Amino acid sequence: MTMTLAADDHAGRDQTSPHPLSPLAPAEIRAAVAIVRADPRFGDRAMFETIELKEPSKKALRSGGPAPREARVNLFRTGEPGVWRLTVSLATAAVASAEFLAGAFPMIQLEEFLAIEEVVRNDPDFIAACARRGVTDMSKVCVDPWSAGNFGVPGEEGRHLSHTFCWLRLRENENFYAHPIGGLNAVVDIKALKVLRVDDHGAMPIPMNEINFEAQFRDSFRAPLKPLDIVQPDGPSFVIRDGVLTWDNWSLVVGFNARESLTLHDIRYDGRQIAHRASLVEMVVPYGSPDPAHARKNVFDIGEYGLGKLANSLALGCDCLGHIAYLDAHLNTMGGEVFTIPKAICIHEEDNGILWKHTDFRTERTEVRRGRKLVVSCICTVGNYEYAAYWYFRQDGGIEFEMKATGVINTVACLPGRPSKYGVEVSPGVEGQLHQHAFCARLDMAVDGDDNTFVECNTHAEPPGPSNPYGNAFFVEETVIATEGAAGRQVDTSTQRYWKVINPNRRNHVGRPTGYRLEPGHALTTFLGPESPSGRRARFMRNHVWVTAFDPEERYPAGEYMNHSDGRGDIVDFAAQDRPIDNADIVLWHVFGLHHLPRTEDFPVQPVISTGFKLIPCGFFDHNPAIDLPPAVNAASRQAGSSCCA
Ligand code: CO
Repeated sequence: MTMTLAADDHAGRDQTSPHPLSPLAPAEIRAAVAIVRADPRFGDRAMFETIELKEPSKKALRSGGPAPREARVNLFRTGEPGVWRLTVSLATAAVASAEFLAGAFPMIQLEEFLAIEEVVRNDPDFIAACARRGVTDMSKVCVDPWSAGNFGVPGEEGRHLSHTFCWLRLRENENFYAHPIGGLNAVVDIKALKVLRVDDHGAMPIPMNEINFEAQFRDSFRAPLKPLDIVQPDGPSFVIRDGVLTWDNWSLVVGFNARESLTLHDIRYDGRQIAHRASLVEMVVPYGSPDPAHARKNVFDIGEYGLGKLANSLALGCDCLGHIAYLDAHLNTMGGEVFTIPKAICIHEEDNGILWKHTDFRTERTEVRRGRKLVVSCICTVGNYEYAAYWYFRQDGGIEFEMKATGVINTVACLPGRPSKYGVEVSPGVEGQLHQHAFCARLDMAVDGDDNTFVECNTHAEPPGPSNPYGNAFFVEETVIATEGAAGRQVDTSTQRYWKVINPNRRNHVGRPTGYRLEPGHALTTFLGPESPSGRRARFMRNHVWVTAFDPEERYPAGEYMNHSDGRGDIVDFAAQDRPIDNADIVLWHVFGLHHLPRTEDFPVQPVISTGFKLIPCGFFDHNPAIDLPPAVNAASRQAGSSCCA
């Protein structure tokens, strides 16, 4: 039996019933809230941190039967510590499980951002500190709420806090990040919604030059280029039906939640499984300044805020070019209302240049095929910064993830010409601090099935001698890593190290296990001291790859409830179980990122810099899987006349 949902319930999806892995529809979010509100343990005082699909087990999914819809719900109460972790059965309209975590803190909520700014601007100590800096019009002071970490500062213990930074906005819409107010931080108790403490580390002259990026402040623009239009007269080549996105030989389910933003499920090529689930599950931005005002800057944008609820509503023709399908994201407010971000997810195709080519130099016969890629993306704004996440699916079986970082770098005041050693002066009196953006992807691999094996591949030179008489020989040594304890690994360029996930039970036509190779992007070195307050909480950065045995509750590499955490319950603890991972259901975690040393060109708004990784088939197919692309000549392409080459 199929049921028809209201038009808004799966907007943008051509389907009649939710896929078992599709995100909760608005009606389901409302139902979950009503079920919780009706339970006397929670009632009207419950505030909702997150309401998301509790994904059905792999067993339930594979059984083919209807998977009962369940919601994961995190609750907290105003003015009280702790988080309730619930499973809500939508099928039976009951709270199926409830656990109270007294020491846990929720993510900082969207609604709290502006409330924190307001309470700081109205605080007498903060007003006095601003006055000492010559700032008396508090309406011009902008306060950004940062997560506070866990620094053991007396008086902060057990509190849910925001550590704030402030800037001055000279006039409406002006770029306030050009005017950092130095040495001033208010610490806000989020539960009590009051300023716990104002730290005045000493005033610094506020740089007052306007440095804007909004078009309204520009007198002139460079001459525009001629139009470049993406035209698909017959529409795009993908469809979304019953929650399944299919394009070319690919199929997958697109999910979305408040914490991770995009999630991809049941990724297949030609019907063959590659990954059960793939998403970005954590990121942390450690800043390198020892200045007491800035040493706490080590923000986990996914675990402490939630990237998904900060997603933009995308603009056709600006964010997204061509023939676009958008999906809305349905999330929840703290009060339990449905919070919809229209057009949060963009799905489209892009030309991807040539995919393969060969010219026989004897006959001058040429075979060439252009490739195309399917792109699934979203863009999230976290305070001063934008993170634009792109998943690419290539016709040769490759999967790529790209994270584009843009927005405004975080700024601090410095004396003109005298930036600190830990930053770069990007404009007179404005310093951008050295920092990193470390990302962690969780790749629940399922190469031709759940049971997979993790293999490290190192290239070695053959030792000189009879087996290498000309000194040129090298070979690849493959090592199966059989336990979690041994699977925390780092990039090694001296051996051209890479990793693959193979299915030891499936063979290709040369008798080798089918597999996918992880091609790391930028390998980051962490500069956080291992026992430092931030280093203890960012232990996932210590390796570039981790492999763990699948556990549906091991979702986040810095821990599930990691706001103010002390680091426990993270991926180091997952791996310390030392479970077997050979021919088992395994999860590959990849850590990569940007070592961001700001440039003058990064200000006032930073051109995109990007990082990411690739998963490419490695013995998965018997031949080039794109050999069957039909020859084609794009009829709309034109040879430019002599006017452009004069
Ligand atoms: Co940066």
